[in-house]
This record gives sequence, C-alpha cells and structure tokens, in this order.
Amino acid sequence: METKSTISLFLFSIFLFTASSLITLSHSAELCHPNDKNALLQIKAHLGPNTTFFSSWLPNTDCCHWINVRCNNQTNRLNYLAIGQQNDLIGQIPPIVGQLTTLEILYFNDMPGLTGPIPSSISNLINLKELYFFRTNLSGSIPEFLGRLNKLDILDLSENRFTGPIPASLSQIPNLQQLNLFKNRLSGSIPDTFGNFTKLALQVYDNNLSGPIPKSLSRGGKNLILIYLKNNAFSFDFSKVVFSSGLRGIDISHNRIYGSLPKQLSQLPLEVFNASYNQLCGPIPTGNWLNRFKADSFGNNKCLCDGPLPTCK
Ligand SMILES: *[C@@H]1O[C@H](CO)[C@@H](O)[C@H](O)[C@H]1NC(C)=O
Ligand SMILES: *[C@@H]1O[C@H](CO)[C@@H](O)[C@H](O)[C@H]1NC(C)=O
Ligand SMILES: *[C@@H]1O[C@H](CO)[C@@H](O)[C@H](O)[C@H]1NC(C)=O
Ligand SMILES: *[C@@H]1O[C@H](CO)[C@@H](O)[C@H](O)[C@H]1NC(C)=O
Ligand SMILES: *[C@@H]1O[C@H](CO)[C@@H](O)[C@H](O)[C@H]1NC(C)=O
Ligand SMILES: *[C@@H]1O[C@H](CO)[C@@H](O)[C@H](O)[C@H]1NC(C)=O
Repeated sequence: METKSTISLFLFSIFLFTASSLITLSHSAELCHPNDKNALLQIKAHLGPNTTFFSSWLPNTDCCHWINVRCNNQTNRLNYLAIGQQNDLIGQIPPIVGQLTTLEILYFNDMPGLTGPIPSSISNLINLKELYFFRTNLSGSIPEFLGRLNKLDILDLSENRFTGPIPASLSQIPNLQQLNLFKNRLSGSIPDTFGNFTKLALQVYDNNLSGPIPKSLSRGGKNLILIYLKNNAFSFDFSKVVFSSGLRGIDISHNRIYGSLPKQLSQLPLEVFNASYNQLCGPIPTGNWLNRFKADSFGNNKCLCDGPLPTCK
C-alpha cells in the first residue's frame, strides 16, 4: 500500500517535471522579439482584428511563424511584412509600423480601404530595401522624408491618389533602381537632381506632370534604364534630349512634346518605344532599332514622316 503510493508520487513528480520543462522549452523556443510581436498585434487591432487575413496572428504563438511575416534567421528580428490583397482591411497605415525598424521589405498593397497619408513614422524604417505601397487608396503628398530611407532599391507608390510634386529628396537615395509613381495625381516636374542615380527605371506615367526632362537625367552613362512618361503634360524639345546609353525603354506618348526624333534613338537597343500623341515633326531616323516599331509608336503627331508613316514631302 505504502509502496504503491510512493511509486504514484514518484511518477507524478516525473510527470510534473516533464510538463514544466516542456513548457519552459516551448517558451524559450519562441523566436519572435516581444517588441515586434507587440507592434504586429497593434497593427492587427488597428486594421481588422477579426479578419481572416490576421487569423494566424495569435498572441500565444511565435510571430516569426505568422503568415505574411518573416524574421531574420540570425537575429530573429522582423525583416519582412506584407499586408495586402484584402478588401476588408479598413483604415490608415498604422503609425506603429515605424517601430519595426529592422524591416527590409514592407508591403501594403491591393487594399482599396487603406486611406490617408504615409505616416511620418515610416522615416524610422532606415533598413528598408524595398517599400511597396501600391494599389491602395493613399493620398496626400509624397513625403520628403522618404529620402532618408537611403538603403532603398525599390520604391513603389503606384496606383494611389497622391498629389503634389515628386520630392527632390528622393535623389538622396544612392542605389534606387526602381521608382514607380505611375497612376497618381502628381503635378510639377521631375526634380533636377534626378540625374545622379546610377541605374534607374523611372515610371511616372498617368499623372499630371509637366515641364522638361531634367538635363541631368539624360547626361549619358548608364543611369537611366527605362523612362515611362505616358499620359502627362510634359512639354520639351525632344530633339535636344541626349539619352543615356543604358536606356532600354521609353514611352512619351500623350504629352505635348515637340521637335524631332533625335538620331541617337536608332542606335539604342530599345525594347519599348512610343512617341505617339505628341507634337513631333520630321523624319523618323532609320537604323537597326527604331525599324522594329510600327506606326502606332509614332502616330498622331504633328508631322512625323518616313519609316512606318507616310513618306516625308
Ligand atoms: C472582434 O471580435 C470580438 C469578439 O468576437 C468582438 O468583441 C469585437 O468587437 C470585434 N471587433 C471588431 C472591430 O469587429
Ligand atoms: C538565412 O537567411 C539568408 C538570407 O535570407 C539565407 O540566404 C540563408 O539561406 C538562411 N539560412 C538558413 C539556415 O535558413
Ligand atoms: C478611396 O477613398 C475615397 C475617399 O476616402 C473613397 O471615396 C473611395 O470610395 C475609396 N475607394 C475605394 C476603392 O475604396
Ligand atoms: C544627388 O544630388 C543631390 C543634390 O545635389 C545630393 O543631395 C544627393 O546626395 C546626390 N545623390 C547621389 C546618389 O549622388
Ligand atoms: C494639372 O496640373 C496643372 C498645373 O500644372 C493644374 O492647373 C491642373 O488643374 C491639374 N489637373 C488635374 C486634373 O489635376
Ligand atoms: C503607343 O501609345 C499609344 C497611346 O498611349 C497606344 O495606343 C499604342 O498602342 C502604343 N503602342 C505601342 C507599340 O506601345
């Protein structure tokens, strides 16, 4: 009798010991940093606590294993966050996102219910390499402070309702390779300082931009890879533009660009070319590369001729 209860007690102690060490183990196995988890839970509370999108974001689980979240595998700090493709997330970008300072990639995309301006706390995210706020309903101006995010390779603010000018401060981002500002309501001209990027694809089509292409953007070298200016109010003498040798795509259609097509165009291995719907005039230069493009790349100008268009008189 006595022995039996001693054994039971002994077994029970083993059980207790095992259970408590399991709890300790599972606790110490949580990779997520408490500051990151706290900020993420506040983002969830802010944007839609009961939406299916956040259903894996539970306080008693490891945030490094939540869906749409990734942690650095050495530091275990959050480096990737993607919130998007949701119609039922409503509100503004939660300012607390700015506390996730180890983020390298951040997405808020395809959310018509995301409104308001870009909060100033985003300027704290100085480790960002890729920032995507696209196909949402954000408005206000493009903030100057984005120029402080000087590790950015990609900045995509396309398909929103941003107004006002393109801030010159963006030219302080030394390695910016893709700047997507298309389908907004931006006005003003392309800042003069935009010429010192080393390798840039610039897409600003479908806005209300005007003025010239800054001289510095066409300074030669390889700095401009792609430039899409379609559907704006740009007005400059195209014949005076000198293109960088790295240029692979140019669409200036639907602007008020005048002058003639520079001969240099026929020497660039262009994959995309469209100059239609402007006020251009004179012969289309002959050469290897421009010959590939058909009339719809040149049509609806003042008096362009030759090539796929009627012969010059
Ligand atoms: C979310 O669900 C909880 C519990 O069902 C409820 O108390 C809360 O009001 C809901 N919050 C929102 C914003 O719908
Ligand atoms: C850690 O992350 C780096 C960068 O994302 C990746 O290249 C590497 O394979 C990862 N290592 C492990 C052990 O998962
Ligand atoms: C975008 O925001 C505007 C103004 O807040 C609103 O009228 C419009 O319905 C929103 N668009 C979508 C697709 O939700
Ligand atoms: C480009 O020029 C601006 C203004 O002169 C300067 O502030 C910025 O640091 C330069 N950026 C690069 C990448 O050189
Ligand atoms: C476009 O910009 C011009 C000024 O450059 C302004 O007068 C006009 O109202 C703007 N149009 C739209 C549709 O925003
Ligand atoms: C050129 O642009 C015009 C107007 O934007 C468009 O209708 C046409 O299809 C485009 N052609 C090519 C080859 O991109």
